[in-house]
Amino acid sequence: MARPQQAANVSSLPPFPEGWFFIATRDAVQKAGLIQRTWMGEEIVIWSDPAGQICIAKSVCPHLGSDLGPEAGARVVGGRLVCPFHGFEFEITGQCVATPSGAPARSAKLDLFEAREIEGLIFGWWGLGGRASQWQLPDVPQSVDDWTDLQIRTIRFDGHPQETSENSVDIAHLSYIHGYHNVTHETPVLIDGPRLESRFGFSTTRKIAKLAKLTMDVSAIAHVVGLGYSFVEFQEHSIGIDARLWVLATPVDGTLIDLSIVSRMRTLHKPERPIAGLRFLPTRMRAPIVNKFIADLQIRDVQQDVVIWSRKHYVPRPRLVRTDGEIGKYREYCAQFYPGERQCEPSRL
Ligand code: FES
Ligand SMILES: [Fe+2]
Repeated sequence: MARPQQAANVSSLPPFPEGWFFIATRDAVQKAGLIQRTWMGEEIVIWSDPAGQICIAKSVCPHLGSDLGPEAGARVVGGRLVCPFHGFEFEITGQCVATPSGAPARSAKLDLFEAREIEGLIFGWWGLGGRASQWQLPDVPQSVDDWTDLQIRTIRFDGHPQETSENSVDIAHLSYIHGYHNVTHETPVLIDGPRLESRFGFSTTRKIAKLAKLTMDVSAIAHVVGLGYSFVEFQEHSIGIDARLWVLATPVDGTLIDLSIVSRMRTLHKPERPIAGLRFLPTRMRAPIVNKFIADLQIRDVQQDVVIWSRKHYVPRPRLVRTDGEIGKYREYCAQFYPGERQCEPSRL
């Protein structure tokens, strides 16, 4: 999807903000053995050793520069990444520990990225000039037996993570684009270093299983932690749905981003009110069905946003109206993720 040319008086955002960005799930890594991605403008590989420790590395062999992705022929054997060119073997520490032709140089080491795992989602730290992590992603309360598996959908489009995260404070668009009613917003948003918390509520009426109309009465707390990570606690009051959503924006190559929508739901033991067809289902089957329904709603909303995001310009001095109050504050919050960049102040009311 090509982005229209920027107008001459509009600047653009640096493509790679500093922070933690989603790469893959642990499940996907363990199934594939070795995964290669274009991430933050470079090729990376990710794998795990038999103990489950994860390694994220630049996909370049320090010996003579071979690519280390599966398509080049690299593979993981006994938890070590084996280069396809001369067979050097790398541990998850990045250190080369064996070669077919003698002891490896101590300096033969992969370039690594710090890894962090939350609920089976693996993130890498991308720091300006390769610097170490300046802050951490907070833990989330553990989802154990009572919760469904993760539903994950990823959409790739021409966009920027600052623009997609701006949704969590852009309350006006919820009713205008997504058709929500009774939108409420607790202001001001709370900001603490890299964390931003936005609380809002809304109701929305949707068709379920092409049969009945369902009105959902939602309150949500969005925890934005940097520009790649938003965790939303979602509570639906009329049926009693308790869901967790993650909205994870990852720059691919400086133009495209991958937006992954991840959801998980607590088992619906006794819905507050009947939902078409669901009462005939055993309890353990209700939550996955409703989780899929919630995920479908999210994707439908995101697809509506993508139509705008993929074509919009970044306006550094937005001409805000009173109902946009928090957008200016959000832009000030974002400035910390571009250390060394001169920031444009948004216009004030
Ligand atoms: S380039 Fe990797 S072992 Fe030679
Ligand atoms: Fe939206």
